[in-house]
Amino acid sequence: MLGPPGAGKGTHGDRLAERCGIPKYATGDILREAVRNDTPLGREAKQYMDKGELVPDDVVLGLVRDVLSSPSAKDGFILDGFPRTVAQAEGLHAWLADRGMSLDVVIYFDAPEEELIRRVAGRRVCVGCGMIYNVHLDPSAAGELCERCGGRLETREDDKAETVRNRLRVYRDSTEPLLQWYATSSTSFRELKAVGSVDEVYNGLLTLVDCL
Ligand code: AP5
Repeated sequence: MLGPPGAGKGTHGDRLAERCGIPKYATGDILREAVRNDTPLGREAKQYMDKGELVPDDVVLGLVRDVLSSPSAKDGFILDGFPRTVAQAEGLHAWLADRGMSLDVVIYFDAPEEELIRRVAGRRVCVGCGMIYNVHLDPSAAGELCERCGGRLETREDDKAETVRNRLRVYRDSTEPLLQWYATSSTSFRELKAVGSVDEVYNGLLTLVDCL
């Protein structure tokens, strides 16, 4: 799943993974967990993530190779937010090809920039249990606290306005070139208009891809 910050990759990747009974690997989630656990990877990644920059290709490729080598990936998987550069895509496809595998489909989530900024600015994360809310879409019934565990809700560090602007710039510079790369590769490339309600976008997604 490919697309700018706030396009809905995570939201719909989770739903599709549950529907198909396969894991979803989101490089952003894996990196955030490493940051929370203060591992050497997390300490390196944090320097980039806090500024909205991309973590170096070799670091992220190594991570993805590790998760794809795990038994849980053997019946298929969804990748969310990876690859994000042409170098990552080349590394991924070479690694898959060496193992007789390939991606079935690449979905590009497209939404206008003002909507992306609104969505990302509205996201709140519980510091206690990690539950995600959105003040525009699904606010917590407990206001500034988590309705599940009572934890404090915070804005993700990289969802602050200035960092979001940089994430969008990085997306345009480093990730948009991938659209053309995939459009001309043998992998099936499909574009999803990711605007409207979550259910509308999800129904649109299911017309493009379903459990294979
Ligand atoms: P990552 O976590 O991947 O951030 P992102 O791609 O910027 O993704 P987001 O989580 O903001 O957007 P999303 O498209 O998943 O949307 P979501 O469904 O969450 O990466 C974070 C950082 O990690 C990067 O900046 C980089 O530093 C590093 N990194 C990660 N991968 C890397 C890689 N491959 N290479 C190098 N570095 C990497 O939705 C967003 C919000 O909108 C939610 O609140 C949701 O509820 C709401 N929403 C969703 N759909 C709708 C809708 N239809 N209507 C209204 N609201 C909606």
